[in-house]
Amino acid sequence: MELRDVESDITEILFSEEQIQGRLAELAREIERDYEGKDVLIIAVLKGAVMVLSDLVRELKFHAHIDFMAVSSYGSSTKSSGVVRIVKDLDAEIAGRHVLIVEDIIDSGLTLNWLIGNLESRGPASIEVVAMFRKPEAIKEPVDVKYVGYDIPNAFVVGYGLDYNEDYRNVRGLAVLSPHVYGGEDPHA
Ligand code: IMP
Repeated sequence: MELRDVESDITEILFSEEQIQGRLAELAREIERDYEGKDVLIIAVLKGAVMVLSDLVRELKFHAHIDFMAVSSYGSSTKSSGVVRIVKDLDAEIAGRHVLIVEDIIDSGLTLNWLIGNLESRGPASIEVVAMFRKPEAIKEPVDVKYVGYDIPNAFVVGYGLDYNEDYRNVRGLAVLSPHVYGGEDPHA
């Protein structure tokens, strides 16, 4: 799907596919330096982070093992409560391993903080986070994110894995969704 197919649904393209890939390559070089010679497990939370994970691991020059978790927030399906239930747990044991969590976007930070706490209790050697996008103005709980692709304005965005009602995930760039699509109020606020 090209961005032009959804042109009437978006107000602005924040990043093209090329920009995202270029930034991801820079992050991959940093990650390669930091994890040289280490056993790394790269974890993504379904579904939004799948695109970032698949592009990042193919850019990395070391053997990157991958695993997935699925979680669901209690309460509304779009708003983050920070109270989370595991729907699918990791297949791998992480005790003693270096864990790198891949996130699509950090908004309030509530989900990620819960996840870090949950994984820390399993005794990994280290936990770090790589997030493609972050909304600094929306942060409700400080989160320590080592690798950030881009800081973005506090708007509802879609594309590159991010959805509105499961649509737009396969849009290649990142775009601001037009309020007429969701009827005014930011779906994640
Ligand atoms: P948080 O717990 O508020 O940080 O929410 C994180 C999750 O909410 C992300 O992994 C996304 O799935 C979703 N999310 C947050 N902001 C947006 C957005 O602007 N568009 C689409 N999904 C979003």
